[in-house]
Amino acid sequence: MRVSSTPSSQWTALFVLVSTLCTLFTPAVSVKYENFKTCDQAGFCKRNRAYADTAAATSSWKAPYALTSDSLSWKNGQLKGTILKTINHNGETVRLPITISFLESGSARVTIDEEKRQKGDIELRHNSIARKERYNEVEDWTIIGGLELSKNAVESREGEKTTVTYGPEGKFEAVITFAPFGIDFKRDHATQIKFNDRGLLNMEHWRPKIEKSQPEKKEGEDETPTHEVTSGEDESTWWDESYGGSTDSKPKGPESVSLDITFPGYDHVFGIPEHAGPLSLRETRGGTGAHTDPYRLYNADVFEYIMDSPMTLYGAIPFMQAHRKDSTVGVFWMNAAETWIDIIKQKEAHNPLSLGIGSATDTKTHWFSESGLIDVFVFLGPTPKDVTKAYGELTGYTQLPQEFAIAYHQCRWNYNSDEDVKDVDRKMSKHQIPYDVIWLDIEYTDDKQYFTWDPLTFPNPIGMLEHLDKSDRKLVAIIDPHIKNKEGYQVVKELKEKDLAVHNKDGNIYEGWCWPGSSHWVDCFNPDAIKWWVGLFKYNAFKSLPNLFIWNDMNEPSVFNGPETTMPKDNLHHGNWEHRDVHNVNGLTFVNATYQAMLERKKGELRRPFVLTRSYYAGSQRMGAMWTGDNQANWDHLAAGFPMIINNGIAGFPFAGADVGGFFGNPEKDLLARWYQAGAFYPFFRGHAHIDTRRREPYLVGDPYMGIITQALRLRYALLPAWYTAFHEASVDGTPILRPHYFMYPSDEAGFAIDDQFFVGSTGLLAKPVVTEGATSVDIYIPDNEVYYDYFDFTKYEGQGHKTIQAPLEKIPLLMQGGHIIPRKDRPRRSSGLMKWDPYTLVVVISKNGMASGELYVDDGETFDYESGAYIRRAFEYKDGVLESRNLGTKGKLTDKYLKTMKSVGVERVIIVGAPKAWEGKSSVKAAGKDAALEFHAEEGGKAAWAVVRRPQVAIGEDWKIEF
Ligand code: NOJ
Repeated sequence: MRVSSTPSSQWTALFVLVSTLCTLFTPAVSVKYENFKTCDQAGFCKRNRAYADTAAATSSWKAPYALTSDSLSWKNGQLKGTILKTINHNGETVRLPITISFLESGSARVTIDEEKRQKGDIELRHNSIARKERYNEVEDWTIIGGLELSKNAVESREGEKTTVTYGPEGKFEAVITFAPFGIDFKRDHATQIKFNDRGLLNMEHWRPKIEKSQPEKKEGEDETPTHEVTSGEDESTWWDESYGGSTDSKPKGPESVSLDITFPGYDHVFGIPEHAGPLSLRETRGGTGAHTDPYRLYNADVFEYIMDSPMTLYGAIPFMQAHRKDSTVGVFWMNAAETWIDIIKQKEAHNPLSLGIGSATDTKTHWFSESGLIDVFVFLGPTPKDVTKAYGELTGYTQLPQEFAIAYHQCRWNYNSDEDVKDVDRKMSKHQIPYDVIWLDIEYTDDKQYFTWDPLTFPNPIGMLEHLDKSDRKLVAIIDPHIKNKEGYQVVKELKEKDLAVHNKDGNIYEGWCWPGSSHWVDCFNPDAIKWWVGLFKYNAFKSLPNLFIWNDMNEPSVFNGPETTMPKDNLHHGNWEHRDVHNVNGLTFVNATYQAMLERKKGELRRPFVLTRSYYAGSQRMGAMWTGDNQANWDHLAAGFPMIINNGIAGFPFAGADVGGFFGNPEKDLLARWYQAGAFYPFFRGHAHIDTRRREPYLVGDPYMGIITQALRLRYALLPAWYTAFHEASVDGTPILRPHYFMYPSDEAGFAIDDQFFVGSTGLLAKPVVTEGATSVDIYIPDNEVYYDYFDFTKYEGQGHKTIQAPLEKIPLLMQGGHIIPRKDRPRRSSGLMKWDPYTLVVVISKNGMASGELYVDDGETFDYESGAYIRRAFEYKDGVLESRNLGTKGKLTDKYLKTMKSVGVERVIIVGAPKAWEGKSSVKAAGKDAALEFHAEEGGKAAWAVVRRPQVAIGEDWKIEF
């Protein structure tokens, strides 16, 4: 922090003492609750909860929404009709067009709009120039495929309902009831998901404001009454709404949408990131220990966030999975406005004679968004993998990152000069600590003007990038969406002249405060703004080299003087859509523009972009990585990281991590070491720290910590081939990288809520990093009767259930499940780039029945050539004393050329864990027909027998057999 010096030496001494004390102790910090709304303070949230209460309290409650059967038409897998909402006792109705689409993939989509707004047949208040329709463009940012309509879906109408049979082998059904409108989604004739079962469907239709004369103020009264009731409802926030000193003008009046979605017989629901809390979402109404507020999705810069809370954070993915024994289903609520989700779990004794035995829980959810459409996708599983795959077919699978991006990143706010960067780089090398990327936070710029370098501290950015490139290392620089409003800054000049910024409600360029002070925000909903943004990254515009990549921060957007630290909801984006309608997808549009820019820095240079984002929405996974924002250097925050990252992964965005070491505060050394051990298992692995913290690069922490941290980093580097293979898998079918128990063992109820241990990809690696202070062992849950081995010393663990693993500070609890083959690269290097041509080690982990198999994916780790077949995909299989490598890759234009470049990359070692006793005394094996040395180590003191084949002289890209 910048502090001006005082002339008095006494004061200076006092200041030094106080600052030292401040950095020695991590102050207890907590979120500023008063900066963020509770449900009660958000008009539409309060109204919809009240609506739910009224419905629950009214025994004869009947939702006033009916689908008119004569409006219904069926064509090509799509049902269209009109729902009539009855709005008063005279039977007056509002028309709500509905489309139900049955997709070839087996997913279904229900879209409800409002005819009057659709036609623009409404009047806006306050002379607003906002769009009149309900926002219907979120799919342009979110959906990239999977919308093909089903050819086999069949509709059959009968009386007051119609049934559509669809999905694989016609196993899915949607039973649509007309009055009140509702849908039951069934699989194999059993209901899995119910829409409007509780009658909470609510679409706040357009109505003109009835201006009333203000009641005269009585003596002694200093405020007008807050509730003006004309409809019997609480109208106090229909026409404008104030919070924390700002007033939202709400030119379109009340326009929220809501629906109840019930999962009968489902005990657990997961997803709807981003929140800091357990993977299995908690109740928000009623139950003991329930949260008092619904889970909120309203992307925000929540400073010093708290644990186990439904409070909103930086990102929003309104995708939820419900899970019970042997069945997973899901919904994706595609709405980008502020959204809240209530969860109730209701025990239902399905069989009154069972006296509670066999009783099941229904999870009842209630979703409400401030504006936009009701647009919900339904996935009927039955496996967790089916659900994530179907969701990814719509929103895209995770980007296959460059290989460096999944290695270790060294960041802090800030590295102070190009010399500082080079110094850190040299010291990491000197201490043989691997890292791939060093990061620059906002201070590298000239006066917070992005696309510039501070001329005093970074006089030679090109020299710095060249220096890093010598060890194949990269630099990531931050570029935020706020553009400093300053005379003479070319970027802001163009932004204004070309009119590419977000506007305020009056249509003028919006001004707010962020790091640079007065700023404007580039409006990346505007195609012209994207084009312009792309130009700013060209090498001749932003002095840089191809080893520079980008960090997009503050893109919720964070506005220091805005309501809830963000933009006013009545701001206007391209097409005059209100910010209210698009808020949650805003961060994605910014990253999308940066991603495009990174693709086009130079003609013909086709490298995969790397962009880190803080704010995100469904679909952001296609563009880069996310991290969990400003966490704190304490054990609770370390523990919170895994559930958050795992949850993000099952919601389609697995390239996720948390600031290693904790952003705020100074971690004590044990915490730092444990955090690196945990970080070695984050898909996105970056150390980061606040500007007020002490330096904590791994070489500064002293013994034994530096050694422990280096070991954790080397473990990550050794396993990079396995991580990259897991990323490949995620990029083709959406399977998460960190796989929670329920995902792997959907039948084992005992483990559905486990969120502190996980499998890494398909490797069979089961990790449970230590996240509690002072722990020297962990209790790990083994889900099956397979044999497990300690990764480091091959101690055997057998039998399903809880096992204790010793975990002194230097040890990461990590097991290998029998039956897998894990690819590694064991030669320690300075960066992943320098490992490119290194030979592989294969770890064959033999199962109880004497077999093992595994996969490996390899490509050049940087270009898009893999799309033309430039990759290796191998299946390894061990059976009956033979280890075989088979090709799984399909042929493409560039396959042969790529395989040639990989010809000399071989396997230097095969380690067989759980080696058969019969090998004792054996000293060689036949590897691709030639002799290779075998070394056998007998079982000893609970540790499995193992063997190693050295230099088998087989290439990684070829077919071969090793016969034992
Ligand atoms: C907020 C980000 O969350 C943090 O990581 C970063 O260091 C600061 N902005 C400064 O850019």
